[in-house]
Amino acid sequence: MSLLIKNGTIVNDDSMFKSDVLVLDGKIVEISPSIEPLPGLEIVDATDRLVIPGGIDPHTHMQLPFMGEIAKDDFHRGTEAAVAGGTTMIIDFVIPTKGESLLVAYDRWRGWADPKVVCDYGLSMAITSWGPEVAKEMEMVTKADYGINSFKFFLAYAGVFMVRDEEFYQGMIQCAKLRALARVHAENGAVIAERCEHLLSSGITGPEGHTQSRPEELEAEATFRACTMASQANCPLYVVHVMSKGAAAAIAHHRKKGAVVFGEPIAAGLATDGSHYYHEDWLHAARYVMSPPLSRDPTTPNALMKLLAAGELHLTATDNCTFDCHQKSLGKDDFTKIPNGVNGVEDRMSVVWDKGVHAGIIDPMKFVSVTSTMAAKIFNCYPQKGRIAVGSDADIVIWNDKATRVISKDTHHHAIDFNIFEGMQVHGVPETTICRGRVVWANGQLKTVQGAGRFVPLAPDSQIVFSAVDNRGKALEPVKVERAPYEATSALAAPDANANTVVKAPARTAIPPGGISSIQF
Ligand code: URP
Ligand code: ZN
Ligand code: ZN
Repeated sequence: MSLLIKNGTIVNDDSMFKSDVLVLDGKIVEISPSIEPLPGLEIVDATDRLVIPGGIDPHTHMQLPFMGEIAKDDFHRGTEAAVAGGTTMIIDFVIPTKGESLLVAYDRWRGWADPKVVCDYGLSMAITSWGPEVAKEMEMVTKADYGINSFKFFLAYAGVFMVRDEEFYQGMIQCAKLRALARVHAENGAVIAERCEHLLSSGITGPEGHTQSRPEELEAEATFRACTMASQANCPLYVVHVMSKGAAAAIAHHRKKGAVVFGEPIAAGLATDGSHYYHEDWLHAARYVMSPPLSRDPTTPNALMKLLAAGELHLTATDNCTFDCHQKSLGKDDFTKIPNGVNGVEDRMSVVWDKGVHAGIIDPMKFVSVTSTMAAKIFNCYPQKGRIAVGSDADIVIWNDKATRVISKDTHHHAIDFNIFEGMQVHGVPETTICRGRVVWANGQLKTVQGAGRFVPLAPDSQIVFSAVDNRGKALEPVKVERAPYEATSALAAPDANANTVVKAPARTAIPPGGISSIQF
């Protein structure tokens, strides 16, 4: 199948230029100012449009079994929503139940996804329990046959997915050895569990209890702790769903000290805030329940976008994990039973354009960086993905930056009966989405084929993630002091000439004197 995209402006993360793009058998084969439209070529007119790499959403949970329910967007509906919104690749999470073999869980996820996906996908693996067998299986799944190059640790959801700090630390040591990226859901699960008990016993049963059980400083504390532990393990760290200024400040603090840490805000956190939890309509409030919760500070969404602009946060995702109104209503008497998760995969690209480019905070190249290129680099599939270049996969979006649309449950492609962005008018519309050379979304219509997407194996040792780590490791090597053997009697004798000789220890990450609340950008 061949396709010619005419008269568009190509946008990569580092350049913008007018050119035509020729696609053959799923790959970009030529980029030139004027390519002749030979017979048999399908022509896509991109006059006055931007031609951008398809979005990569590095954080989704399609059909996740969670809190006694199964997320409504499965790999079919979820990837259809993705391509309708200009996203051409997702990275979902295999999440083994506690004690389950990683390999068994991996096969289950592949069995769910392969026959259903309409766009390409990769997988990240959650580590929900720890032991030598898990460490061994981590090594196995980083081989090419499995294609996993990142592992996620939950510091929340006590008793379900949560790992203890020492397990997280040992897991990161193993990640560093395997040159795999550690990802973290940073909250303080133990304190949250206590606060939930207290709130319920105080009679607070509604969705406002969800946000009160998880004050923002708990996210900041866990983010700071995770960064500190990653630094000690000399393991690069990727913080998923950065929802608050405090968490972002913790990342910035560690990056200033040379730590390799990446921060991922999500569409929900960039476009909405936690005021919804106090809405007088119970169901309205319940729809926004996710963890960490949306920020109660109304200035947070804009601040997170500015941090993307400044390079303090690095890429955007969605954490798409959808439960419908019926599923949300299962927590009507107890907020801890409201399934956690929100939509985003369909609207992320437009939301980021609107709140970022249209708002004058980022330029179109940064938009491409935070919606695809950075993800491709971090997860080691660049320039196969995340770039309009000869040899890259033809995952392309024809983007109309002048058009607007109003987000609504009535027109979206998710499998749920509400949308957390309902009624929001956004600038920036994906008019045509092309996955590996096939038009899958055009003129407001899906043209997808179930199972046409492919699994993209992700290899360890991504350059952008690991290139600094070896030299950093030298500074962290243990220091031994060579001394004469200790004699108990000599200690009581007069001090010798070398009494004041000390070995200089290398600098280590430390909590700033005023504690983590004193962190400044
Ligand atoms: O509330 C959320 N975020 N649900 C999905 C699971 C997770 O924590 O990523
Ligand atoms: Zn999470
Ligand atoms: Zn998640």
